Amino acid sequence: MRGLKDKVALVTGAASGIGLAIAKRLAEEGMAVGVLDMNGQAAHAAVEQIRAAGGKADYEACDITDYEGVKKAVAAIESRLGPTWALVNNAGWDTPTAFLKTTPDFWRKVVDINYLGPIHMTHAVVAGMAERGGGRVIFIASDAGRVGSSGEVVYSGCKGATISFAKALAREVARNNVLLNCVCPGPTNTPAMDAFVGTGEQGEKIRNAMVRGVPLGRIGEPDDYPGLVAFLASDDASFMTGQTVSISGGLTMHG
Ligand SMILES: NC(=O)c1ccc[n+]([C@@H]2O[C@H](COP(=O)([O-])OP(=O)(O)OC[C@H]3O[C@@H](n4cnc5c(N)ncnc54)[C@H](O)[C@@H]3O)[C@@H](O)[C@H]2O)c1
Repeated sequence: MRGLKDKVALVTGAASGIGLAIAKRLAEEGMAVGVLDMNGQAAHAAVEQIRAAGGKADYEACDITDYEGVKKAVAAIESRLGPTWALVNNAGWDTPTAFLKTTPDFWRKVVDINYLGPIHMTHAVVAGMAERGGGRVIFIASDAGRVGSSGEVVYSGCKGATISFAKALAREVARNNVLLNCVCPGPTNTPAMDAFVGTGEQGEKIRNAMVRGVPLGRIGEPDDYPGLVAFLASDDASFMTGQTVSISGGLTMHG
């Protein structure tokens, strides 16, 4: 991809699943990658993997729900890697529960991680991008935020809110050459998915039912997403902002 080499990317939730695949790919493209994850041990292991493959990476243990902690983590990683060119807001969490069985504490946790977390990160990073006259923010949202997903009602609301947030901020900072876009995965084989559907026979049944709804006949793998993320961070995407793209095997098809 054009224009990525030697630039800095921060990826939240990069110790696992989709975020790890994105971090590895951006490092392969020559970017210096900051792994930000609340699981410091797994973040360290991710950095070791990237370095072993010849890439440049560093990490900070960081809980994106804590705004002060986010500001400190961003300052610390930028002091080591340099100013951020691309922020990938990937960290997210949910657990399947019918809305009528959920509680205010649960709603707050889901909103803190999936909506306020990306807002904290974006606020901490975009000021510098605007001052420097350029940068990219890529949100890993979800098809749940475009079409809704039963059992993930508040999470779906957060992802929909994230998509609208990205569009609104894209308008505010366009003249500073800061571009924001969203990538929406469909159901994907990650540790989060294992926790979501469970393992064993019951988990397999739910997976098979998901596959039946996907025109391309499978659910996603973490490696299905990094190509688009790298493109959105690259010079080839310099006239694209405020857009939302689904990668879900045709599960949802948007005009
Ligand atoms: N897996 C799917 O089916 C699927 C589908 C659509 C969208 N997504 C989205 O993709 C993104 C990645 O999901 P995944 O399946 O790879 O998840 P995952 O559980 O495999 O990885 C998530 C990572 O985020 C980290 N994390 C969680 N809360 C955090 C916090 N408060 N602060 C910092 N780090 C935190 C975890 O430690 C973990 O390393 C999420 O935003 C998720 O909503 C996933």
